[in-house]
Amino acid sequence: MIVKEIKKNVYGIMVNDWDRRLFDELIPLPDGTTYNAYFIKDKKNVLIDTADPRKTEKFMGIIKEISGGKIDYIISHHAEQDHSGSIPAVLSAFPAAKIITGEKGAVLLNKLLLTAEDRVLTIKYEDEINIGERTLKFYSTPWVHWPETIITYSPQDRVLFTCDLFGTHLATSNFYSSDYKVYSAAKRYYAEIMMPFRNHIRKHLDLIEGLDIEIIAPSHGLAHSNPEFIINAYRDWTADNVKNEVVVPYVSMHGSIDRMVDYFTDALIKREIAVKPFNLTVTDTGELAMALVDAATLVLGTPAVLGGPHPSALYATYLFKILRPKTRFASVIGSFGWGSNMLKIITDMLPSEIGIIEPVIVNGYPRQEDFNSLEKLADNILNKHRELK
Ligand code: FEO
Repeated sequence: MIVKEIKKNVYGIMVNDWDRRLFDELIPLPDGTTYNAYFIKDKKNVLIDTADPRKTEKFMGIIKEISGGKIDYIISHHAEQDHSGSIPAVLSAFPAAKIITGEKGAVLLNKLLLTAEDRVLTIKYEDEINIGERTLKFYSTPWVHWPETIITYSPQDRVLFTCDLFGTHLATSNFYSSDYKVYSAAKRYYAEIMMPFRNHIRKHLDLIEGLDIEIIAPSHGLAHSNPEFIINAYRDWTADNVKNEVVVPYVSMHGSIDRMVDYFTDALIKREIAVKPFNLTVTDTGELAMALVDAATLVLGTPAVLGGPHPSALYATYLFKILRPKTRFASVIGSFGWGSNMLKIITDMLPSEIGIIEPVIVNGYPRQEDFNSLEKLADNILNKHRELK
C-alpha cells in the first residue's frame, strides 16, 4: 500500500496486489497489479474510485484514517468491481456519502453492487462540481473499456484521473512511472484491455490533449508525471499504421509445423521482415497480444485435429478476432494427415477486412516443394508490406 500526497490535499492510494496472476480469469498478470483510488480533502471530501473486493479490509483501514471520518462524494468512474467493489463498504461506513457517476454507470452499479438509487448523483458530459477550492470536471469517455466510463479533471491541481485508461498491471513500491520501465507494461495492458477500442481512444486522446495536465492518475499501476510520454505511446499504438512485422502463433503435434515455422521465420528474416513466433503450448497470451499491437501480418501455424485446426490455434484465432488489432493480412501454415477443413474454419473466424495471403497447407511432413511454397508466402508478405508504404 502506498499513500502519497500528489498535490496539496490530493492523495493517491495505491493498493498492491502482488500475488494476483490472472485478471478476469483470462489475462496473465506476471507482475501483479494495483488498485488505485484518490482522495481529495476540500470543503467537500471526495473519494475517487475504490479497490477490488479482495482488498476491501485494507482499503477501508486507510480510508477511515485519511478521511477524518468525512466523505461527501465517491466518484465512480467505472463499474467494474476492481474499482467499484469496495463502494458498498464505503457507503456503509459513511452514511452521508453519495456516489457521483454517469447515467450508464448508475445503472451498472445498481446491477452489479445493488447500490441504492438514493445514494447516487448522476452527471452528464462536461458537468462540473465545486467542492470548495476546486471545481472538478467530468468527461464521458466510453469504451475504455466499458460503455459507462467517465474521467475526472481537476484544473486547479492539473491532475487527470483516468481510471483504467493509461493503466499498467504492475504491483510496485513506486508511485510514479519512470518512462523506460512503464512502456512495456503499459503496452501489454493496452494490448490486453484497450486495443479493441482504439478508434474510441483516438477521440479521447484529442480531448485529453486539450487539457492542461501535469499528472495522469490512473487506477492501475504507476501514475504518469510526464503525461506526454504515455499519451504519445497511445497515439502510436492506436494509429492506423502497421509495422513490417509478422506474428506467428503456432502449435505442432508431430514436428511438421515446427519444421515449417522454423523455415518460414528464417525466410522472413532474410527479407528483413521482423518476425515473432509464439509456440502456443507455452505462450503467455499477454505477450502475444502485445506483439499484435503493431504487426502488419498474422500467420497461424496449425496441424489438423479431427479435420479442423488444433484447438490452441482456434483459441489464438478467436483471441485475435476479439482483440481487434490493426493487422492487415493473415495466412495459415498447416499440415494434415487424412483430411482437413482447417483453412475454412480459421478464415471464417477472421475479421472480414483482413486480407488473406495464399496459405501453405501440407499433407504430412514438408518436402522441398513445400519449402518453396513457404518462400513464396514470405515473398507475398514482403510485397504486401511494401505496398503499405
Ligand atoms: Fe480495472 Fe475495467 O477495471
